[in-house]
Amino acid sequence: MEKLLIKKAIEARNNAYAMYSGYKVGAALLSEKGEIFTGCNIENSAYSPTVCAERVAIFKAVSEGERSFKMLAISGGKGDKLSVAYPCGVCRQVLSEFCDEDMVILLVKNENDYEVCTLGELLPKAFDLGE
Ligand code: THU
Repeated sequence: MEKLLIKKAIEARNNAYAMYSGYKVGAALLSEKGEIFTGCNIENSAYSPTVCAERVAIFKAVSEGERSFKMLAISGGKGDKLSVAYPCGVCRQVLSEFCDEDMVILLVKNENDYEVCTLGELLPKAFDLGE
């Protein structure tokens, strides 16, 4: 499943609308049920409305009723060059709303070269309302 998720993240990256930064990101999120939701970054001429690939993927999933996730793959890089993209702080917080600390995140350089970590490693002591 890791390999398929990585392939989907790289494919999703091809849809990135990144005409201002030139930095393209793709994300592929695997639900507990085995469905894959993909996302890419979508930039905007006013800059701040830009949305990251990871949030596109998770918002697509949640908006379709999915709230349990197993694994996320992220592929980044400027232009045609693939490189590892660590999720931004806002995306880490959004992921922490729906994903457990032990959810696996694959930080993809290319199909054969990727780092494996957990959400808890990327965002220890995440904010929550303590309820
Ligand atoms: N970006 C993502 O898609 N995900 C991240 O976690 C970090 C940054 C995008 C936003 C923007 O379009 C481009 O990368 C450069 O910041």
